[in-house]
Amino acid sequence: MSSADKLAQLRAMREKAREAGGQKRIDSQHAKGKLTARERIINLLDPESFEEFDMFVKHQCHDFGMEKTKYLGDGVITGCGTIDGRLVYVYSQDFTVIGGSLSKTYADKICKIMDMAIKVGAPVIGLNDSGGARIQEGVDSLAGYAEIFWRNVQASGVIPQLTAILGPCAGGAVYSPAITDFIIMEKHNSYMFVTGPKVVKTVLNEDITTEKLGGAMVHARKSGVTQFVAEDEEEALLLLRKIFSYIPSNNLEDPPYIAPTDTVDRKCEELNSIIPENANKPYDINDVIHSIADNGEFLEVARNFAQNIVVGFARFNGHPVGIVANQPKHLAGCLDINASTKASRFIRFCDSFNVPLLVLEDVPGFLPGSNQEHNGIITNGAKLLYAFAEATVPKITIILRKAYGGAYCVMNSRHMRADVVYSWPSGEIAVMGAKGAVEIIFRKDAKNAKDPSKYLVEKEEEYRDKFANPYNAAEKGYIDDIIEPAATRFRIIRALEMLASKSVNNPPRKHGNIPL
Ligand code: HXC
Repeated sequence: MSSADKLAQLRAMREKAREAGGQKRIDSQHAKGKLTARERIINLLDPESFEEFDMFVKHQCHDFGMEKTKYLGDGVITGCGTIDGRLVYVYSQDFTVIGGSLSKTYADKICKIMDMAIKVGAPVIGLNDSGGARIQEGVDSLAGYAEIFWRNVQASGVIPQLTAILGPCAGGAVYSPAITDFIIMEKHNSYMFVTGPKVVKTVLNEDITTEKLGGAMVHARKSGVTQFVAEDEEEALLLLRKIFSYIPSNNLEDPPYIAPTDTVDRKCEELNSIIPENANKPYDINDVIHSIADNGEFLEVARNFAQNIVVGFARFNGHPVGIVANQPKHLAGCLDINASTKASRFIRFCDSFNVPLLVLEDVPGFLPGSNQEHNGIITNGAKLLYAFAEATVPKITIILRKAYGGAYCVMNSRHMRADVVYSWPSGEIAVMGAKGAVEIIFRKDAKNAKDPSKYLVEKEEEYRDKFANPYNAAEKGYIDDIIEPAATRFRIIRALEMLASKSVNNPPRKHGNIPL
């Protein structure tokens, strides 16, 4: 073969690989409103940055006539490229090739880029759209999945792992995304479940649609499996880029600094009057976050799940910060099981990847009731305490209003080793609310009083004067200062600057035993 022929052969084979499962299947993919695996990579990465590996890989299966069904690349496109100039590894499952089903060689391709990503310290992004284990390959396919899972665990806390679910993701295949740091589900074509509607019908005689069982909104609102829902694939890919803008490439790097366009000492005057006069009235914590963050920008994580706690990324003077904030607008900002698990996972992500934590606290306590107790608020609430206590990144707490009882301790208090704790003048740091407190400590005295209800109201007033303020805690040094709300942004930026070189190590151990 002449050199020219060899070149022509290479070009022809590349062309063949790019045809994937053929035009008919590509058209059918488009007809469903889906992009192809290759189009997704092109949309995700910086232009011309994609470097593909293993384009010539073919599966090695000879059962069930599979030797006649071979495609160059075998159903998954893998490689690396850049996002905003930063290296990322990516795999994109190709539904047009045997339903994107996973063979052993396909898994090997994914494992290869995961190994490289861990070696060089760059994130892995998975774009999922697959019919699951390639049924013809049997246990070889299962082995492939398990190899991926193992690498997901090895990579956890070392490099960020992000997943977009853009089509089916069923059976054990769901466990790789579940281990990754963030999941985005496309709203109309994606679903995730361990067992599908047919099995549910057979085993439980329950009729349920694919969407109701494992659609994007179900996982965003009910299970909390997905942290983001995208209206369409373009939005999903943009969201991946956006998340990446807040996080470092690995656990040894600092998160990416972007030169700020907002001023450091910008006063947030509206915050001086944001807390309602009546302590039982809610306000929207998002207004506080938008007011203090650089340019009012906030990337909320898991916005549809456990809305009594708000978590997400913002920047202060150009530096990314992870915010954990009670939301008085939902369940009065009480902590419950879902809020605890949502916030704990976010805190642990931030701590793994050197993102400082900012807590905005207004919490009346843990949500009472048999539902919470029987479903394990004890174990789950402990996760939150554990996550704050073990975090060694800079930790700042601002008490806006209520900081009651156990929730005061848990929410990144001084005693959990918060580095800086400030309170607004509206802070109320106490064992419980005034009403509940006087009903317990003055119940007997009230019975003997001439007018018991008047007596209780007076005592309530007395208790409120004594404890419904931040000065008691400030006297003891549990909080470092009482600040004007309007100065919050400036004080946070100052605190972050002061803590930039913080260095703390927990005692050496194999790993802790977080109450899972
Ligand atoms: C082999 C598969 C396949 C699979 C789809 N195909 N899934 N081939 N193994 N798992 C093939 C189809 O035969 C078809 O081939 C092509 O891909 C497109 O599939 P369609 O069914 O035509 O597409 P659609 O109607 O959109 O339906 C998509 C689907 C369905 C809902 C995903 O294909 C499906 O139910 N597939 C099987 C899902 C499944 O049971 N997987 C195993 C789960 S258990 P042709 O040649 O006709 O185009 C699992 C365990 C993982 O994954 C364990 C990890 C530990």
